[in-house]
Amino acid sequence: MQSTRKITEDIVWVGSSDRRLERFENLFPIPRGIAYNAYFIEDEKTVLMDTVDESVARQLYENVDYLLDGRQLDYLVVNHVEPDHCAGIVEFLSRFPDMKVVGTAKAIQIIGQFYEADMTERAVAVKEGEELSLGKHTLRFYMAPMVHWPEVMMTYDVTDKTLFSADAFGAFGAFSGSIFNDEIRFERDWLDDARRYYANIVGKYGIQVQNVLKKVALLEVEKICPLHGPIWRSNLDWFIEKYQAWSSYRPEEKGVVLIYGSVYGNTERAVDALAVRLADAGVSNLAVYDVSSTHVSELISEIFRCSHVVLASATYNAGMFPPMENLLTDMKALAVKNRKVVLIENGSWALSAGKGMAKELEEMKEMTVLGEMLSLKSVLPRQREEELNQVVDQIVKSLAE
Ligand code: FEO
Repeated sequence: MQSTRKITEDIVWVGSSDRRLERFENLFPIPRGIAYNAYFIEDEKTVLMDTVDESVARQLYENVDYLLDGRQLDYLVVNHVEPDHCAGIVEFLSRFPDMKVVGTAKAIQIIGQFYEADMTERAVAVKEGEELSLGKHTLRFYMAPMVHWPEVMMTYDVTDKTLFSADAFGAFGAFSGSIFNDEIRFERDWLDDARRYYANIVGKYGIQVQNVLKKVALLEVEKICPLHGPIWRSNLDWFIEKYQAWSSYRPEEKGVVLIYGSVYGNTERAVDALAVRLADAGVSNLAVYDVSSTHVSELISEIFRCSHVVLASATYNAGMFPPMENLLTDMKALAVKNRKVVLIENGSWALSAGKGMAKELEEMKEMTVLGEMLSLKSVLPRQREEELNQVVDQIVKSLAE
């Protein structure tokens, strides 16, 4: 049975959702599943925009068969070669011997690395601004290298003012029939997973995303069709502004995320003591996480959201608590910058977690450590309340700036 949805008169969503996959890229937990989007354009020439992951490919084949209704598929446009969007390439090449594959030269090269397919007569390499006429529709191609792989491009349907944005503007999460942003409660149900998707998948490439946003700003875009997550057909500026913040590493909100690594609960209690005092001081946007029990992708996402970060780590093997070290390594790899940070270290002897955290932060850009590091020996005793209050004052003052 076909499961498709019309986006415009001629553009149809032909993707599907996977609710069984535990970890996206075998790395990121996706308790809400994931949608793989592909799009069909019906015109004098027929076009499929990208394919899907192997797990849902049967649904794609059925959807495309239904829409073709006996016609041939003329073009497969490949905006991104990552296998979660390319499982169908070989199958479509074999089903439609005259079908051309349209992509960047790099995409065509990488397809050859992943799949055994003779592309010599089938590949059409396109460059920035080149157009492809389908009859009524004209497709224009825009290069988007490193958003998220080097071969990525975006395709703009000039006729329907629709942008096929590849990984940009995507989100984790499976669909429940509704595929458009105005059919769901995006801010309540999807925003966290859109941010987590952005920060962890594309977060490292802020400059490249900014370059693409500049190109998008020059286009009249009525719909954004990403490879994952909801299709945007209203309120586009709101989501584009989120992308502006994330890709420029500008905090999305003024707020404090407090992340601790604690062996016996004493570092945790110190962070809880700080959090309640911040709340008493009127700070309302607070989030406390245990680095051991929260997936690092959630923590990265929260750091992209918040202006202020408290990192508290027990000393372990004369260094940082291992999950805290992992978080800082990931922050560095994803080019996190422009945050205000408070450091708390703990250790019963040979305190050294703080030194490690400070060194990692020094290797990131525009990270400001507020005040002196709070160094604890096992517990935070009552006599040191004043020091904790000073940390509160520093954060409150900084939030007000
Ligand atoms: Fe969903 Fe970069 O692929």
